[in-house]
Amino acid sequence: MTAHNPIYLLNSGKFGQESNRLNIQHDLFLELTSTLLPVHIAEELPDEPRIADVATGTGIWMKAVNKSLQSSGKSSVLLDGFDMDTTKFPSPSTLDHNIRFFEKNCLEPFAEEFLGKYDAVHVRLLMYSLKEEDWAPAVRNLTTLLKPRGWLFWEETGYPSWISIPPSDAMHKLLQKDVEWARQKGRCLRSPHNLPAHFQEAGLQHCDWKDYSTFEKPELSQAASDAIARVLLQAVLGIAEQGGMEGLRTEDDAQRLANAVFDDVARGHEIGFSMRWNS
Ligand SMILES: C[S@@+](CC[C@H](N)C(=O)[O-])C[C@H]1O[C@@H](n2cnc3c(N)ncnc32)[C@H](O)[C@@H]1O
Repeated sequence: MTAHNPIYLLNSGKFGQESNRLNIQHDLFLELTSTLLPVHIAEELPDEPRIADVATGTGIWMKAVNKSLQSSGKSSVLLDGFDMDTTKFPSPSTLDHNIRFFEKNCLEPFAEEFLGKYDAVHVRLLMYSLKEEDWAPAVRNLTTLLKPRGWLFWEETGYPSWISIPPSDAMHKLLQKDVEWARQKGRCLRSPHNLPAHFQEAGLQHCDWKDYSTFEKPELSQAASDAIARVLLQAVLGIAEQGGMEGLRTEDDAQRLANAVFDDVARGHEIGFSMRWNS
């Protein structure tokens, strides 16, 4: 089932395609940032931590955190994943008993049973989901899940850091469509630079952020280029599915625009990005 978010683009394409993309890019993110949680958050977790992952997708981050915390001696971790789209959730039979999944739009209030229950709330990648005016309410809503002294940890990227070296005409052409669509739908084009202010406005304390650029790790060049090309493909597929715009009406148009980007990557263009950790 998929709850309605009229502006979200990336759940289009063949069944499994988006889940596969998310799982592959998770490995890239981990290589980029080296750890799953900021050290100061990991160090403050109690012996029996309870963690929420909002907009969890396939739950790949929760599964990895589960393994990592268990191997560091925290055997009683409890992880709850929330997403408006349940189609990417793994089959319950494949799950460890301490990982649960719930259908949830993160802009709507959480049920009483979840309020004030989590030592950490994690979010990764809502830049394609939220309108400009949704970010502040989303941050406020997520803070309702936190225990006193709990941490909100939000990983986000955005157009300001997506760059091809040397510049790619194909990527520029595709980005023009993606960004124009985002502008028409009222999405924030400055993400993730909008987040620190929303954290402060929500009353969160000891706020900090750190950027991880793929250009600092040349060994990630190919994977980073592929990750951006793949998310751009999902975006233009979504735009075509939602009615499209001039030069991008059909799945074939979307595929053609994205193939030109993949071709540039194959010719040696390096596409990089930064992931910002806000906590
Ligand atoms: C780019 S994916 C990232 C998934 C996961 N966090 C990861 O990093 O692998 C964004 C996810 O947000 C979900 N999503 C979009 N809008 C949402 C909303 N308003 N409330 C809850 N989930 C939402 C989508 O269904 C999708 O699974």
